[in-house]
Amino acid sequence: MSFPENRLRRMRRTEPLRALVRETTLEPGDLIHPVFICPGEGVRLPVGSMPGVFNLSIDEAVRDAEEAASLGIGGLLLFGLPDSKDEEATGAWSDDGIVQRGLRALKQSSAANKLVLIADVCLCEYTSHGHCGVVVQTPSGFEIENDPSLALLARTATSLAKAGADIVAPSDMMDGRVAAIRRALDAATLTQTPILSYASKFASAFYGPFREAADSTPQFGDRRSYQMDGANFREAMREIDLDIEEGADMILMKPAMPYLDVVRAARDRFQVPMGAYQVSGEYSMLQAAFEKGWLDRNRAILESLIGIRRAGADFIVTYFAKEAAKLL
Ligand code: PBG
Repeated sequence: MSFPENRLRRMRRTEPLRALVRETTLEPGDLIHPVFICPGEGVRLPVGSMPGVFNLSIDEAVRDAEEAASLGIGGLLLFGLPDSKDEEATGAWSDDGIVQRGLRALKQSSAANKLVLIADVCLCEYTSHGHCGVVVQTPSGFEIENDPSLALLARTATSLAKAGADIVAPSDMMDGRVAAIRRALDAATLTQTPILSYASKFASAFYGPFREAADSTPQFGDRRSYQMDGANFREAMREIDLDIEEGADMILMKPAMPYLDVVRAARDRFQVPMGAYQVSGEYSMLQAAFEKGWLDRNRAILESLIGIRRAGADFIVTYFAKEAAKLL
């Protein structure tokens, strides 16, 4: 049977009908709210390229977390801005690092039993050169060394888990880091700490605003020798495969919007829980359009998120988390 007996518009006539046949859901609990923790007290420093996003001192981050918890948000993804940076990324793995201290404070707050606290594991915010691994000089320039970076990443993950992270999330894209982190966690009897691996992370222009928020712009070169080429789909599947084999409990893909085909394919292929990260550039370009009055703010926010869910992401890391939760 076809038209005129068949009319798809019948099911679109009223909102209750539309709600009944809606295929994809979006709930506050699906959303993860990123938090940038900085030194000091009472600090709420706006990030210029990300309206509505702030660097927060620990006390302010706790307040932010309590708000997120009251909105029913699923969890927080924590990043840190250390007091000082060096070649070994000391601030990343030191037990009194900024995120470690933040975690201890958050664990004591009322938000702790409502939110999953995810700690981003990377060196770029903590190294003086801004790369995600150890840098060595070579006759022809420099190299981001893979294997020596693993020990620092494993040490970082262990220290964050000890400080109270419910999940550790390596975002560096070094080969073998999931296995190295799993071994280190287990050796420290942190056998119950899951690893959320940023398994398919593409080298992207859309991370631009984040690098201002996290003060993590590479001082020379770029990240293309470790993050993936945006043209490569099969390689993304291999990255995910390997990370699961190495012990990743969940995977995260990013950016989201320019890579929704990768999200869909991964959902069809792998059985682990999966998230997607609506990254800073995706957020900032929407914000810019809102400022210009070019897009309907509430509708565009929710549409951008439902699209990511429809592609197959179980959860979404997004700077719109609190705002979207209020709309839902
Ligand atoms: C750290 C890291 C980055 C992002 C998350 N973790 C930046 C980068 O790889 O340069 C980007 C997140 C965003 O753009 O919102 N390695």
